[in-house]
Amino acid sequence: MAKLHLNLGENSYDVIIGKNLLNSANKYFNLNRKVLIVTDDGVPTEYSEAISKQCKTSKIVSLKSGEGSKSVDGLSKLYQAMIQMEMDRTDCIVAVGGGVVGDLAGFVASSYMRGIDFYNVPTTLLSQVDSSIGGKTAINFGGVKNIVGAFYQPKCVLVDTDTLKTLPQRQISNGLAEAVKMSLTSDKILFEKLEKLSYDEILNDLESIITASLKIKQYVVEQDEKEAGLRKILNFGHTFGHAIEAQTEMQGMFHGECVALGMLPMSSVSVRERLVPVLKKLNLPVSCQIDIDEALNFVCHDKKCANGFVNAIFVDKIGEFEIKKLSISDFCGLIKGYFAN
Ligand SMILES: NC(=O)c1ccc[n+]([C@@H]2O[C@H](COP(=O)([O-])OP(=O)(O)OC[C@H]3O[C@@H](n4cnc5c(N)ncnc54)[C@H](O)[C@@H]3O)[C@@H](O)[C@H]2O)c1
Repeated sequence: MAKLHLNLGENSYDVIIGKNLLNSANKYFNLNRKVLIVTDDGVPTEYSEAISKQCKTSKIVSLKSGEGSKSVDGLSKLYQAMIQMEMDRTDCIVAVGGGVVGDLAGFVASSYMRGIDFYNVPTTLLSQVDSSIGGKTAINFGGVKNIVGAFYQPKCVLVDTDTLKTLPQRQISNGLAEAVKMSLTSDKILFEKLEKLSYDEILNDLESIITASLKIKQYVVEQDEKEAGLRKILNFGHTFGHAIEAQTEMQGMFHGECVALGMLPMSSVSVRERLVPVLKKLNLPVSCQIDIDEALNFVCHDKKCANGFVNAIFVDKIGEFEIKKLSISDFCGLIKGYFAN
């Protein structure tokens, strides 16, 4: 078992990582009050039930799985349940699920009665290596991803790696893409590990990969909680990744798969030579049939593109990064140059 302590002044909290933790959640969370447990219908019910058994009073709300629940409709269902339970400012919310449930439940916690306690139990690899810490909460609105949200830190995060046993392999690869992302900008040793181990060895070593990834995110968030500078490196591969995600929505490409593609043009030739075999081993894409012009049109309207410029993260050497402010036309030229080959 590992424990990280995120040092964020009065918003500090612990992240506990290990096996068989769900059944002892009350050791880390104060569940002796009214608790709204938020999950979705793709998450095995035994996980939310394990938490519920430890609560004084609880209600489980299970939303439809998928990005569509990160919406005003999803918000409204949760607020209604909380009002029905007569929850007040001293009560709390526990998210049990992936990044969708975590982002939504965190935003509800930030806004219900101007903020109540929030605990996160991430159950996908993507949420365990990345989205469950750092305090970014949001819903999608008007077709724009994460456009309404708040920075709101959880009180504690419980990463039970046993929950990954029920996660489909493609979702494991999806999460590993974010671990690769963090290693590329910040941790040469983690990248070398992902490079050397076979896929099966990686699956057997997920706990240490999760801990190493979270340590990178911890460092970044502690330096720059509200993304004024350094935190932008967590967006490595995301600017174009989001564009691919938006364009391939109907084909159902996963976030991590799009980030994998988005990292390639932003890496030097020597980094790419090592990155491509790692992505292939993790069953992540290294090429795709998309309309580049249409995807780039999306970049121009992305909220990360301010006044015609993009803060692009480049990795020239593994474990190091550079943030460059590029004009949209330079950024588009770079992407086209890569995908045209
Ligand atoms: N807040 C942040 O910092 C941050 C960072 C990255 C991504 N995100 C957000 O995270 C979301 C994506 O998260 P995700 O990839 O976890 O997707 P997700 O939450 O949609 O989960 C993927 C699928 O896995 C199922 N699932 C969850 N746990 C399971 C388990 N243990 N066993 C079997 N099935 C399980 C879910 O029902 C769902 O169908 C996006 O909305 C993205 O914007 C947020």
